Amino acid sequence: MPSSDRRAVLTGWGAHAPAHVVTNADLERLLDTTDEWISTRTGVCERRWADPATSTGDMAVRAGRAALDRAGVDHVDRVVLATTTPDHPCPGTAPWVAHQLGLGDVGAHDVAAVCSGFLYALGTARDAVLAGSATRVLVIGADRFTSLLDPQDRGTTVIFGDGAGAVVVEARPDDTPGDTPGALGDVVLGADGSTYDHIIVRAGGTRAPLTSSTPPPDRYFTMAGREVFTAAVHRLADVAAQAAGRAGWDVQQCDWLVAHQANRRILAAVGRALGLPPDRVVCDLDRYGNTSAASIPMALAHHADRFTTGDRIVLAAFGGGTTWGATTLTWPATTRPATADRAPTLTATTAR
Ligand code: COA
Repeated sequence: MPSSDRRAVLTGWGAHAPAHVVTNADLERLLDTTDEWISTRTGVCERRWADPATSTGDMAVRAGRAALDRAGVDHVDRVVLATTTPDHPCPGTAPWVAHQLGLGDVGAHDVAAVCSGFLYALGTARDAVLAGSATRVLVIGADRFTSLLDPQDRGTTVIFGDGAGAVVVEARPDDTPGDTPGALGDVVLGADGSTYDHIIVRAGGTRAPLTSSTPPPDRYFTMAGREVFTAAVHRLADVAAQAAGRAGWDVQQCDWLVAHQANRRILAAVGRALGLPPDRVVCDLDRYGNTSAASIPMALAHHADRFTTGDRIVLAAFGGGTTWGATTLTWPATTRPATADRAPTLTATTAR
């Protein structure tokens, strides 16, 4: 198929969340916080924490397997893993994930764009498919974000959770007028390095290596909450509108917004800015918190039953760097039986 005759189409999706549920009541026992503060300020009611033996790569393998099963495929040309919490500083985690999935010696690499990582990875996959350098790509967003948090920092610990989500992106002939089911539109990306330190782990890289004298706060994730909140609303609304415009869609007429799950108030403000009714803005953070690069593919997998073939969906992300991105997705045909690891039944409620 000549590359000019291709579309990049989403054919599979899946998610994995650790079994261990941590409720706001659990956090009340660990931190100076309340369920009332957390739920009204963030919308998060509970989140998942990976056990110490479970890595980002382990979760990525499970989500990747679910997406491959949903697509009904066992081979891809490339694996792209978005993560800020790789299994090791070196090498990237994607080659190990590809190996665990039995995908052979395909190209596999990580992408680091924090909470925007999945959109950056999706853009890489779409570009490869449209250029003809790949016909099928497994795109995973996975983060064990709790590994970066100061467990005593109530400002961050209450927000984030662990998890993984994945999609399969494939080439299809571009021979259908209108919205092809599964088609991904242009991926619009942006970054503003002048706000680099608004979301940051200060030590542990080459600028400030970890030493015995590293101040404890510099070891952990920090964010300028209010500045991030304001920027997230502005950037998410702007980039979502840009992506919809590139697809020729009136953003107000879109069926769903699946945005990075940072804060329910951010989602509500973005929905209002775009003129979307609240019930068209997918909210997954109440049960999973902010899972960084995993949040968009997890939300897609967990809410897939609400989507109908042909639904117009805008995906939008904002994160550290600062970075942002968005694209459009026409929801694919969903005739294949689900084997994906959907939202697990809630069982355990004990905090670690
Ligand atoms: N429980 C109880 N009180 C808390 C608290 C918690 N978990 N965390 C902070 N507070 C307190 C603060 O200490 C502060 O107290 P003070 O007024 O006595 O100083 C008060 O609540 C208000 O803090 P503030 O940080 O101004 O709250 P906020 O309304 O801005 O909400 C965030 C804080 C983090 C929830 C909000 O700023 C936010 O969601 N920002 C975006 C974060 C984000 O999305 N990051 C990821 C982007 S990829």
